[in-house]
Amino acid sequence: MAFFPKPAVGSWTENWPELGTAPVDYTDSIDPEQWKLEQQAIFRKLWLHVGRVERLPKTGSYFTREMPSVGPGTSIIINKDKDGTIRAFYNLCRHRGNKLVWNDYPGEETSGSCRQFTCKYHAWRYDLKGDLTFIQQEQEFFDVDKADYPLKSVRCEVWEGFIFVNFDDDAEPLEDYLGEFGQGLKGYPFHEMTEVYSYRSEIKANWKLFIDAFVEFYHAPILHMKQATKEEAEKLAKVGFEALHYDIKDQHSMISSWGGMSPPKDLNMVKPIERILHSGLFGPWDRPDIKGILPDELPPAVNPARQPTWGQDSFEFFPNFTLLLWVPGWYLTYNYWPTGVDTHIFEANLYFVPPKNTRQRLSQELAAVTFKEYALQDANTLEATQTQIGTRAVTEFPLCDQEILLRHLHHTAHKYVDKYKLEKAAAEAAKTNGNVKDGAHV
Ligand code: FES
Ligand SMILES: [Fe+2]
Repeated sequence: MAFFPKPAVGSWTENWPELGTAPVDYTDSIDPEQWKLEQQAIFRKLWLHVGRVERLPKTGSYFTREMPSVGPGTSIIINKDKDGTIRAFYNLCRHRGNKLVWNDYPGEETSGSCRQFTCKYHAWRYDLKGDLTFIQQEQEFFDVDKADYPLKSVRCEVWEGFIFVNFDDDAEPLEDYLGEFGQGLKGYPFHEMTEVYSYRSEIKANWKLFIDAFVEFYHAPILHMKQATKEEAEKLAKVGFEALHYDIKDQHSMISSWGGMSPPKDLNMVKPIERILHSGLFGPWDRPDIKGILPDELPPAVNPARQPTWGQDSFEFFPNFTLLLWVPGWYLTYNYWPTGVDTHIFEANLYFVPPKNTRQRLSQELAAVTFKEYALQDANTLEATQTQIGTRAVTEFPLCDQEILLRHLHHTAHKYVDKYKLEKAAAEAAKTNGNVKDGAHV
């Protein structure tokens, strides 16, 4: 493997001087107060990816999402109404607050389709637009007008088939928020890749630590050594690995990388099962027969350095959505849902073009199980890291040039928290001033 050129001037990190080059303070990943602030400043204010439109195939389709990152107990319903509009609501009945949609266990997510939502408690009913349509024994209530009790809505917008919600009614529109990367990815054939493999796991580490593990390849030849054949692994560990390109656009970032194992230049680079099934760590390597995945068809944000050895791009949409596109025409998403300062739920979905025969199916399954193996290698390390940074014996850590996006991630999280603190202080000062003025009137 060759080393790849750095930008014309200096290192990657020096291209973003605001990030500095000093060791980074990881207290943000162990301090419970910081997590509470992140919840308010980030998870209650920014756009959060909750699923694909393919989960809502027809009028009345719905699914629920538990959103502990936004607040304890927060649950939402996402559905498709008669006009095809996708909406989101708090999963909460306006009568006496029962959770509206759930199956056997109220804490578990569910999905299905219906013409209206009926509460399990006293049978109040809501239509697909969230309007209250029926009150059991309505005449027994006092001046109640059904129009005053719709389901409480949550902002919901769709970009390229990815459904996002936002708990801040004043947030900017989703497309503005996703910025240049969002614009530059438009047109990729996500809608063709509807065969999904899903993983979900509770990780005993701060949410940012898992993103850290996915935005640098410095660790790959070491931590994931067993993923390649012995000879290839030894070669990689000796030479090291560098990504092809990094970019940062405001709060979002991306890393572009080599794809030489999909297909491998030399079949000896990969294990026997991979040779047979044409698949492995980099996914199935036979391209599906669809438009939009050949090098000259890709949208402009993909493989930005136009590297001929390009294999994979990983876009980090702040705060917690990773989108990875792979050269042979498949993609992966990750979501990281914090449940506390040192715990989060990790969700990964692999999306392929539906297989046409058994061989394609098996090659997708091999990609999915290989992915699980290396994600477990990462996750174990995170839990080991969290326990140690939690001791505070050391709080600052040096990051190398390949770890530029980690710097950016922690810097960005701090930026939102600091902005929130300033706004809160200003609002409180205004309130105090108002009270003083009001007091003067009395
Ligand atoms: S709480 Fe839903 S109908 Fe009473
Ligand atoms: Fe990894």
